Amino acid sequence: MKVHHTLICFFFLSLQDGNAEVNINKNISFGVVGRNLTAVFSFPAGTWKMLCRGECKGGNILINTTDEKHQSHRYSTELKSEDGVPHLSVNITQLIMSDAGQYSCGVGGSPSSVSYKQFEVVVAEALLDGNDPAQLKHFNKETGSSLTVGCYFNPSGGQTFFCRGECGEDEVLLQTDDEDASKDRYRIGYRGPSGETYRGGGIVYVTITQLTESDSGRYRCSLNPSPGQGSFRDFEISVTDGVSLPVGLTVAVIIIIIIIIFSSLAVLIICIKRKSNRGLRTRGNSEGTNMEDVHYENCTPGSTREDSTYQSLHPAARDQDQTYSTLTHHT
Ligand SMILES: *[C@@H]1O[C@H](CO)[C@@H](O)[C@H](O)[C@H]1NC(C)=O
Ligand SMILES: *[C@@H]1O[C@H](CO)[C@@H](O)[C@H](O)[C@H]1NC(C)=O
Ligand SMILES: *[C@@H]1O[C@H](CO)[C@@H](O)[C@H](O)[C@H]1NC(C)=O
Ligand SMILES: *[C@@H]1O[C@H](CO)[C@@H](O)[C@H](O)[C@H]1NC(C)=O
Repeated sequence: MKVHHTLICFFFLSLQDGNAEVNINKNISFGVVGRNLTAVFSFPAGTWKMLCRGECKGGNILINTTDEKHQSHRYSTELKSEDGVPHLSVNITQLIMSDAGQYSCGVGGSPSSVSYKQFEVVVAEALLDGNDPAQLKHFNKETGSSLTVGCYFNPSGGQTFFCRGECGEDEVLLQTDDEDASKDRYRIGYRGPSGETYRGGGIVYVTITQLTESDSGRYRCSLNPSPGQGSFRDFEISVTDGVSLPVGLTVAVIIIIIIIIFSSLAVLIICIKRKSNRGLRTRGNSEGTNMEDVHYENCTPGSTREDSTYQSLHPAARDQDQTYSTLTHHT
């Protein structure tokens, strides 16, 4: 029985966090929208400095320079040497969401002998720095989009958690001791204190990709130095199908317009048919004359039409007289 229980426990434990994939050696630099990002890489000294989006080729090249310090748009590189150890400092200013992704930078004695290092830039939409429930951060997102949120903690260090709700049982989405881990559509990462940029604290960043409406709700990122002593940051997401609402409205309006056009066409056709029918009837059937006026008035209300009715009835009026006269003969 005990073995049985242990097996069941093991099964559920492995279900809980067995699938988290640890992303090692990704060299991640974390930044926040609107702020500056600095990444530093140690290199042997060299004349050529490169910074590229992804692989260093063709249109991916952002900086290719022999200058000690070089700036191009929002990107800049500087080869510094502290205590005889050269390193390349890379800056991206005024971060935007689309800055997130893979980069490479390099230093070399000649353009053909540059050695490269790959790094990833993670950009958060916001950096949460407090637990005031009155200022619960709310994110409105469209289905299919992604959300990355940074959570600032001081003191730093410990296990990181990304939860739905309040990190109760069954609410932990990801939990790790590692610098970066992901599972399904969720990702969590941790950056330790890095210079004065984040005032010596640590940052937990969490990501959900391919958002669906059922992702709407409350989330928590947490850093636990020891069990039960954790600090946390909460936020809320509303995921809506932002695209289909205007499309749905447009379709509805188009359908209504089509219905109006077709129904007015139908009325017109009925009127024309009845008008020609009446022509036939007046010739063939004397009783038709009484019916006609009713049909005609129903189809074409309005004074101008009445005039034309009157005119068109003019020749028939004589017929009517004739009919009347014949009828009077009968009585
Ligand atoms: C970001 O970098 C720009 C250019 O170097 C600088 O003017 C600005 O003050 C920096 N902003 C922050 C928040 O450090
Ligand atoms: C960088 O510029 C130099 C000189 O213009 C050129 O020879 C070299 O091919 C460039 N590097 C890359 C990766 O295109
Ligand atoms: C990047 O920004 C940091 C902090 O503002 C600064 O110390 C460093 O010199 C900058 N590096 C470059 C290449 O501009
Ligand atoms: C990440 O950085 C470390 C230290 O700078 C370096 O040794 C490693 O090659 C880098 N990884 C990649 C994929 O460039």
